[in-house]
Amino acid sequence: MNLPNMQGAKIRTDKKVEHINLDNNIPKSFEGKKYFLRTYGCQMNVHDSEQIRKYLEKFGFTMTEELTEADIVVLNTCAIRENAHDKVFGFLGRCKHLKREKPELIIALGGCMSQEESVVNEIKAKHSYVDIVFGTHNIHELPKMILEANKKLNIMVYSYEGNVYENIKYSRDSKITAWVNIMYGCDKFCTYCIVPYTRGKQRSRKMENILEEVRELKELGYQEVTLLGQNVNAYGKDLDESYDFSVLLENVAKIGIPRVRFVTSHPWDFTDEMISLIAKHENIMPYIHLPLQSGSDRILKLMGRRYTKEEYLTLFNKIKENIPNVAITTDIIVGFPNETEEDFLETLDVVNKCQYDSAFTFIYSPREGTPASKIKDQTPYPEKEKRLQRLNEIINKYSLENNQKYIGKTEKVLLLGESEKDISKLYGYTETMKLVNVITDKDKVGKIIDVNITDAKSFSLDGKAI
Ligand code: 5AD
Ligand code: SF4
Repeated sequence: MNLPNMQGAKIRTDKKVEHINLDNNIPKSFEGKKYFLRTYGCQMNVHDSEQIRKYLEKFGFTMTEELTEADIVVLNTCAIRENAHDKVFGFLGRCKHLKREKPELIIALGGCMSQEESVVNEIKAKHSYVDIVFGTHNIHELPKMILEANKKLNIMVYSYEGNVYENIKYSRDSKITAWVNIMYGCDKFCTYCIVPYTRGKQRSRKMENILEEVRELKELGYQEVTLLGQNVNAYGKDLDESYDFSVLLENVAKIGIPRVRFVTSHPWDFTDEMISLIAKHENIMPYIHLPLQSGSDRILKLMGRRYTKEEYLTLFNKIKENIPNVAITTDIIVGFPNETEEDFLETLDVVNKCQYDSAFTFIYSPREGTPASKIKDQTPYPEKEKRLQRLNEIINKYSLENNQKYIGKTEKVLLLGESEKDISKLYGYTETMKLVNVITDKDKVGKIIDVNITDAKSFSLDGKAI
């Protein structure tokens, strides 16, 4: 079932997006069989895997964490940086060996890497033991492909963005916190980023469908929803509707789930309206992830980020001034092509001014097909590594300082389960998204409780239930 127009990352169309209700009828054809599902990358992939898992479970598969026990292996891949590529192909090598002993094993490759033409070509040329390649726009086709598997390599990757599917069923990781997709794709085209190609143009879900999903989650007792999109505050701009992200956010908050969060925001689309809504509604959490990427105006321009250092700082300060106790985190890329020491110092200057609660930091990774990957880069890689190290030292210093301010305070913590480091404790998150290991009764999982913070590290807090 090869689609002849499979063009991977190259095509972007003006095809009109339709909103389609999915039929979730799946036969129990694989009862007694086991699935192994591995997810790479961002929250969007984690949430997509909840959809994939639902399909597998409807088929009758049960989960295994032992690759050797699996009857089907599904890899949900990430393309944002190059190193993911090697990890995935390394893993596929293990699957190939397994398939020699167990020829009926089904191997399926999905996610952002499947949307890259070069990856699909590599699979066709060298990895024909793979049974299924499915893209990010057609996860709903996976059941059909599984039923047809083991006959020949079955590649079905849409070269266009696909429609918006409603009535998707998920097998959610948690019964306490839930992801809710509000949009797919991204229209920002930052010059380093592959997402607008692998995930396509921005397509928002209709507000009434999102609200319905949140209402259902409330009925099920969920304590927290996180509205999910590559660029959530551009929500609705692609629809012929009068509402935008602020309207959606307020309507979600009014449903009354105890905690509402959203990721990720682009500074360019952040409005004053959003700031006042977060300040006004107690159940919209005072936590914002606000990617900076670089502090140098020259680099920001080359990145196509649409704001200057000053504009970013103005927005940052406005958020800090208007939302009490807000925590702000960020993403930063070092070593964009030809980034100079001076450019890098501008980034450090912003970090020193913003003193982020924490940050994800990355060395620039050229992605085929993006405009930045065509720039001839003179900055030596070891220099980039040194910059990353210098940046991380400063980021960690501020993380620790910010966390130390919590010592002695009482925080509301939503408890999610046993702490990984110490099973006598539970772990959970403050409203500001700080991880806390809490001494408390085990039956408090799923509850929001008052916790006295007793100690702070760079990446977590310790506390005691009051
Ligand atoms: N190289 C390095 N980091 C990248 N990101 C996106 N594309 C690249 C790339 N080509 C980072 C950005 C983004 C985060 C999700 O990943 O900081 O915000
Ligand atoms: Fe990529 Fe920029 Fe879109 Fe974020 S906003 S997904 S960095 S193109």
